Amino acid sequence: MKQAGKIAAGALQVMGQAVKPGVTTHEIDLIGRRYIEENGATPSFLGYRGYPASTCISINNQVIHGIPSKARVLKEGDIVSIDVAACYKGFHADTAATFPCGTISKEAEALLEATREALFKGIEAAKPFDRVGDISSAVQGYAEARGYSVVRQFVGHGVGSSLHEDPSVPNFGTSGRGVRLLPGMTIAIEPMINEGLSDVVVLDDEWTVETADGSLSAHFEHTIAITSKGPVILTMV
Ligand code: MF3
Ligand code: CO
Ligand code: CO
Repeated sequence: MKQAGKIAAGALQVMGQAVKPGVTTHEIDLIGRRYIEENGATPSFLGYRGYPASTCISINNQVIHGIPSKARVLKEGDIVSIDVAACYKGFHADTAATFPCGTISKEAEALLEATREALFKGIEAAKPFDRVGDISSAVQGYAEARGYSVVRQFVGHGVGSSLHEDPSVPNFGTSGRGVRLLPGMTIAIEPMINEGLSDVVVLDDEWTVETADGSLSAHFEHTIAITSKGPVILTMV
């Protein structure tokens, strides 16, 4: 999974570097797919429950599961959430980040920073023999203290020989509750944080998730291993 994580993180990095005004989300998807395949892995999302692309690219008010498209051209000021997972020798690793396209507003910058930090608060809380609720409550507490809301319809998850495994890892909840975190468990923590209200809607394409109120949304994700010494991030370049 460390090897899968390195490949997924490398793909995310090259895709993030390609985020520029005038580029289509389809082109960025191909950059990610090529990177994963050149490194001997396969893109976990391609064909997953019929998903038609290798990665998810979600812009501005889109939360997750945006389908890359030749028709979607990035423009200055967009925030671009890229989610990518790689499968290497039968094991998956899943990672995401939201990138600025050119210069973005101060408000957008603050949302990206808070969402990234909320992810790291969640990772720090993933101590062996603590519980999933400790992660959930750390993420929620950090985001809501800054006036943001946490998406509830979609959650983090166990990850391993399948992309999505038990347990669910919500970004909201109560510390001391839920499944106990044990050494050897591997999970994806992935806060989706909205500038406005937490409600989301799914578009007619049956994939793209947007904020119901049209507000901006950001998404950061790492796959981590719970070890006796603490959490280890696997999705690192
Ligand atoms: N967003 C999901 C995750 O990070 C995976 C997307 S599955 C796909 O767990 F089929 F939409 F690609
Ligand atoms: Co993901
Ligand atoms: Co995930």
